[in-house]
Parts: sequence; structure tokens; C-alpha cells
Amino acid sequence: MYFGADYYPEHWPRAEWESNALLMKEASINVVRIAEFAWAKMEPKEGVFDFSWLDEVIEVLSKQGIKVILGTPTATPPKWLSDKIEDIYMVNEFNQVRGFGSRRHYCYNNSKYKEYTAKIVTALAKHYKNNTNVVAWQIDNEFGCHDTVRCYCNNCLKDFQGWLENKYKSIERLNEEWGTVFWSQTYSSFEEIILPKYTVCDSAVSASGLNGRKRYSHNPGLLLDFYRFSSDSVVKYQKLQIDIIKNCDCNQPINNNLMGHFNQIDYFKLGEDLDFVSWDNYPNNEWGQNSMFSVSMAHDLMRGVKGKKFWMMEQQSGPCGWNSLGDTPKPGQIRLWTYQAIAHGAEGIVFFRWRACPFGTEQYWYGILDHDGIPRRRYKEIKQIGSEVERLSDLFVDSKVLSEAAIIKSYDNLWSHQFQPHNEKFDYNSLLIQYYTALGTNNINSDIVPYNIDFSEYKLLIMPAFNLMKDDILQRVENYVSGGGNLVLTFRSGTKEWNNSMTIKTLPGYFKELAGVTVEEFDSINFGREVQMFTEYGMGKVLMWADILKPISAEIIGTYASDFYEGEAAITVNSYGKGKVYYIGCDLEQEVLNKLLEEIALKSGIKPLIPNNIEGVEVVSKEKNGRKYIIVMNHNGYEVEIHLSGTYKELISNIDIDGKLMLNPYEVAILETNVG
Ligand code: GLA
Ligand code: ZN
Repeated sequence: MYFGADYYPEHWPRAEWESNALLMKEASINVVRIAEFAWAKMEPKEGVFDFSWLDEVIEVLSKQGIKVILGTPTATPPKWLSDKIEDIYMVNEFNQVRGFGSRRHYCYNNSKYKEYTAKIVTALAKHYKNNTNVVAWQIDNEFGCHDTVRCYCNNCLKDFQGWLENKYKSIERLNEEWGTVFWSQTYSSFEEIILPKYTVCDSAVSASGLNGRKRYSHNPGLLLDFYRFSSDSVVKYQKLQIDIIKNCDCNQPINNNLMGHFNQIDYFKLGEDLDFVSWDNYPNNEWGQNSMFSVSMAHDLMRGVKGKKFWMMEQQSGPCGWNSLGDTPKPGQIRLWTYQAIAHGAEGIVFFRWRACPFGTEQYWYGILDHDGIPRRRYKEIKQIGSEVERLSDLFVDSKVLSEAAIIKSYDNLWSHQFQPHNEKFDYNSLLIQYYTALGTNNINSDIVPYNIDFSEYKLLIMPAFNLMKDDILQRVENYVSGGGNLVLTFRSGTKEWNNSMTIKTLPGYFKELAGVTVEEFDSINFGREVQMFTEYGMGKVLMWADILKPISAEIIGTYASDFYEGEAAITVNSYGKGKVYYIGCDLEQEVLNKLLEEIALKSGIKPLIPNNIEGVEVVSKEKNGRKYIIVMNHNGYEVEIHLSGTYKELISNIDIDGKLMLNPYEVAILETNVG
């Protein structure tokens, strides 16, 4: 298994490369990712390529058995290049140019920039195609980071018009799909189409009643298509580089480092052209802390992008921030995060970064080593992880995460909810995390999947707030349920068509027959109001949304207990074919949802991996060549006692565990089942 660090040799004197490599080797490091921001060193002047320093560092590393993942440097076009292309920079919705001085300052749709991209990538690919020390490529770096997906420049305008023409073929069709008759927005040609820039009705910041939210006023069809187009532009720019590398006959696999829950690129589409994906995980930094389940769900999403293993290309290994610092990882926490990644399917671990840099924007971003380069506590922890991973790597490589449940994620739906969240407290991804958390709390693993796969391997499929709908998705879901699958739908399902117009079908639209209910009315709950509801799994508050349901063939399993709809149905279950469809018409408090999903999972034939739920303890089930094991992780800063049914062998320590497992703060256990 590959184990390594993100290394920036260009930040350090040549004389230190050998000692860096030796220290890496001592920590079992066998791979580094390099060069993804080094364009100015690779091509200091237009057309003058210098890879000699790169050749040299690759050579130095290889002497210690360390391989390289080579980044294409296009996230940082150098100054000479940026000066050459007048309109290289991204433009925001207020027509402000987002200029030179940080990174990612280019527009994906600038054809001159694409020419320079092609030149540098071709030069790199030709130079390194036969280098056996280069084991993979990374394209660019974190596409979309710093809000760099949606650009409002004139090149984007032209490309957007072309993209629309290709999609709709005729302007009449576009007018029809968007409903431009509303407010006299009818377009007479594709050249007339606009980008959704700032208008009189938009508000960038808080307008009264918006609680600091931004108001969007453009046509919802146009906005959604602009978001789709922007995501496609990134996919296309990435493809340009992939094609060059492949056409140069490079055999090394190609990856890109994604950003977990990042919401402006359709990662399922971005992943299609890649050989594998990786991602960058900073659970605790200047900008916030992520819950254990939010991180796990991001891992599962990354695995879901290609339905296979992924890499960690940047795993946090120190305290970090740009202007202020997040918490220092506690002893054991880096190790815990590493096992968490491995548990969910990571088969390569690269820590960001080898050593903190004394200069530049990221002076405060600590890595394995501090600025002075002296190995301390964090280095020792990495070294320990390195030797454990080396020993256990057979168990992890090509292992499978065993999930009987899946949650569908749709970027089209995410974007539509983004600018029209229905209720100001609603957030699509938070709802997904809430359902994921409910399953995880019950020690049930789930996959995160797109809508266009075969669902039949799952016992339970959750499709939260699947608002935009179309026939072919209905067909898939219907096949799944008819064949015996169990489907959970929620409020805000099926209210829209795929073009983002409201459906004129009776709600829940496409899902009506499957769910066996109609939504008679709904209540968007605002200004601190609360509605009561109850199920046999407990009473709860509804704080955001209440669908008032009228069963056609469904059975009621949850009822409202206050307001004008007291006694009406809130949650139902319908038998359809050989399967069941649950419709959860309101938001639920986490506790109530946990209980409800425990019951639904049980009825769907899913058993929890371990019998008791302990806060902050996570369990993942895996299999390798018929060998089954669970990874149990204590994310708490205190010791926990876990009761198990059965006997296990703990594989890190090789100790037999019977009935009871004690885990220290941030400790991990790998338990092989069916032994003893
Ligand atoms: C991202 C980038 C890295 C670095 C870190 C820290 O993950 O990919 O280059 O900037 O953030 O800010
Ligand atoms: Zn642009």
C-alpha cells in the first residue's frame, strides 16, 4: 500500500533533499506527491522547459525507494503567462476580475489558456512517460477550490450559449423549458442569452427577512443550466489534460484530488474520465470542524464516485489555517483519521504536508514536521502508522466495504436546492448527512451512490429530497422496489421536473404511485415555530417542513400532534410489488430519525454490525478474500467500553477479544470475525 507525504522540494535547499528522503524512509514513506504548483520552475520563460531539478529530486527519492505522484501545475499559471492572456482571469457575478496573487486564477473556458495548458502537459507527459519512479499523475489541484467553478466572463458567456444550443437545439425549445414567457424573458436567439449576473432583484448579502442569505432572482431553469454548464466546463478542462497524457502513451494511472462534500462540481461526472480519485481531508482547521459522520460520508462519497477504492492525497497531519489556526490534532487523532480513511476504502495515504513552509500564504499550515524540520510527536505518530500499515496492507488492499444500504446523491438536485432551499433552514447536503448519521449511529454502513446505477444489491435505498425528477430515474427506482427493495423518500421529493420547473403532477409527483400517498398540503415552518409529531419510535419536533399526507394505499406510521393538521399523516409506508416505500413527510430530530431508521433497517433485513450504539464510536465492516473484519474507531477523547456478541481477534495487537472491547481515546481496533 502506498503511504506518503505531499512534498515541495522547490521550497527547500537542494542540500536537504537527501536527508528529507532518509527521514521519510524511516517513517515507511514510499510515495510523495510533488510539483503541482511548480509551473514557474518548470517553464521559467515561455517555451523554456526545465525539468532538471525535478529529475534530480525524483532520483534522490528513488534511492530511498520513494515513488512519485506527479502533479500538472495548471492551478498556478505563472506571472509571465498570466500577463500574456488579457482575459485569463475569472470574473465574478459583479463583473469584478479575480486577479493574480493567490492561485486558481484562470477561467476554464479561456482558449489561450488551454493552449498553454496543452503545451506544459505535453512537455511533462513526454518527459516522464517512461519514468518508472512516477507511479501516477495528478491533474491540476482541487478543481473548484476557492469558489472557482462559476465564472461570468465573456468567454464563458459564449461557451454557455454554445452549450445551450447543443442541449436544446432550438431557441423555442429553450424558451419552453425555462418558461421565459414569465417576465418577458423570451430569447430570440442563443446569442441573446445571458449569464446570471447581478440584477436589480438579486441581493448579495442580507436583504430584510433573508437572515444573511443571498437572494437569487434569475430564471431557475437558466440558473440550474448555468451550474450544470460550469461543472461541465471543469470536466472538459480536466479531459483536455487526460487526453494529452494518454495520447503521449503514458501508462501511469491518472487521478485528481477532490474535496469531499464540495458542491459545485458533479463529482460523478468528473470521476468518469479518471483512473482513480483521491481527496483532501482536513477534519479540523481554521474554517471549522467536521463531525465524524460527515468525514465518513465524504469518504463513502469518494468511494462512490467510481464505485471503487480511492486515495487520500492530502490527509491533515498538523494544526492548520491560513490566517489563524485550527486545533492541534490530539495524540492518536492522525492515526485515527488514517484508519477511518482506510476503513472506508482508501488504499493510498498521503499526508499534507511533509514540512511546514516558512513563506507564502500557507506559512501556518503545519504538516508532519514543523518549520525547523525536527521530528517530534506528529512524526512519531506517522512513523507508527507507517509500520502498522506496512504490516497490515494485505488486509486493506482490494478489500471491500460491506454496505447493505445506500443513499442517493444528485448534484442536479443539490444545485436546485442551493438557490431555492424551500425553507431557509433547509440544506440538501445536511439532510443527507443526517440520514447517513442515523444509519451510522445504528452501526449500519452505507454507500453514497448516483441515481444511474443498478440498486439491486442494496436492501435499503434512501433518496432524500429528490426534488427534480424524470422518467428514467422513476423506472430504475420502480424496478428496484418491485423486485423487493426498500425505498425511503422524504419531503420535497418529486415537486419539480428535471428542467427545474415545478411539476404539475399531484405531489409527490413522479413518486405518487410508489409511495401510495398524495401531499394534500404542506407547511414551511419559520420564525422559531415548532410542530409536534409522533411515531411509535417517539415524539418529536418538526422545525422546518411538514407535508400533510393523504394515504391512497399507504399505511400511516407517523402523525402530526399539533397545529391545524393535528392527527394527519406525517410518515407512511406503502407495499409496492415485493418491496416497500417509506415516505417521511417532515424533518425529524436526529434522535427520532435514528430510531425510525433502526426500525426501517431491521424490517429491511439489515442487522447492526455491533449491538450497542455508543456516541463517538464508529464501526465499518469489510471483507477481503472471504475474510471478514470490522474496524472499530473511538473518536472520543475518553476511553469507551464496547460490548460485542461473539469472539474476535484484534489484528493490530493480535489479542483475542471476548465479549468486551476497551478502547482508549482515539484508539482503533480491527476485529476479525468468525474466529475462535
Ligand atoms: C488544499 C490544497 C493544498 C493546500 C491545502 C491547505 O487542500 O490542495 O494545496 O493549499 O489545501 O490550504
Ligand atoms: Zn470565464
